[in-house]
Amino acid sequence: MKRLEGKSALITGAARGIGKTFARAYLMEGATVAIADVNIEQARETAAELGDGAYAVPMDVTDQASIDKGVAQVVTTAGKLDILVNNAALFDLAPIVDITRQSYDRLFSINVAGTLFTLQAAARQMIAQGHGGKIINMASQAGRRGEPLVATYCATKAAVISLTQSAGLNLIKHQINVNAIAPGVVEGEHWERVDALFAHYEGRPRGEKKRLVGEAVPYGRMGTAEDLVGMAVFLASSESNYIVSQTYNVDGGNWMN
Ligand SMILES: NC(=O)c1ccc[n+]([C@@H]2O[C@H](COP(=O)([O-])OP(=O)(O)OC[C@H]3O[C@@H](n4cnc5c(N)ncnc54)[C@H](O)[C@@H]3O)[C@@H](O)[C@H]2O)c1
Repeated sequence: MKRLEGKSALITGAARGIGKTFARAYLMEGATVAIADVNIEQARETAAELGDGAYAVPMDVTDQASIDKGVAQVVTTAGKLDILVNNAALFDLAPIVDITRQSYDRLFSINVAGTLFTLQAAARQMIAQGHGGKIINMASQAGRRGEPLVATYCATKAAVISLTQSAGLNLIKHQINVNAIAPGVVEGEHWERVDALFAHYEGRPRGEKKRLVGEAVPYGRMGTAEDLVGMAVFLASSESNYIVSQTYNVDGGNWMN
């Protein structure tokens, strides 16, 4: 039997990357999936590519009206909302002395406020429905410890881990499980930008940082979005009903806690 049969899922930032891979996996497990993204053209292409059960939803997680409209669209289309994956995020890096307030505000607005207020809108809907739900936040190994050039992004992901703890404790009385996944380094378009930023600030040739971080993973290579799918499906399924407020490292052994 499929593990998410008949469930209605909403994944933010699902037009590409990890969110898109999760959407494909949830569809295979029997859910319908809202591909919610600020890049609506790419979200539409992704929904068309993924086929039956996938549909695009325009959503900017920095805009409350857009979040509310997106959740309402899911309810209109699928009749309910059972699973939210808070996946949309932005990366940036700079030495402490070069961090701009603009970059700080943007990262906190998407990665932290976006996570909290999308979670809130989903939780309100799930509480009104009265049969619980699953909320999965995308944290990162970056939230486990600081990095010399990555202060702001690391702080946003530490905040996601903390929000997961508090929201999980507050919402479990409604049978809403809030948990998080902390990936390590994951192949994809996201890493092209990360590698370019490290190349700039560390004076490296392009591609070198990516190669080095991959070699440093105890498992022996960078992760792929597929490596995260098992955890993403598990946390969305009834198998995780007794799991509350946890952040799971899925990182090939990079971090232990
Ligand atoms: N790739 C990695 O190495 C890695 C490692 C650890 C954690 N993560 C986390 O996993 C998640 C997915 O990462 P990814 O590599 O697939 O990222 P990505 O950059 O490939 O995709 C992010 C998606 O979010 C969308 N988005 C950006 N701003 C938005 C907004 N305001 N509203 C709605 N959508 C918005 C983008 O359009 C894009 O489709 C993120 O939370 C990221 O921090 C990634």
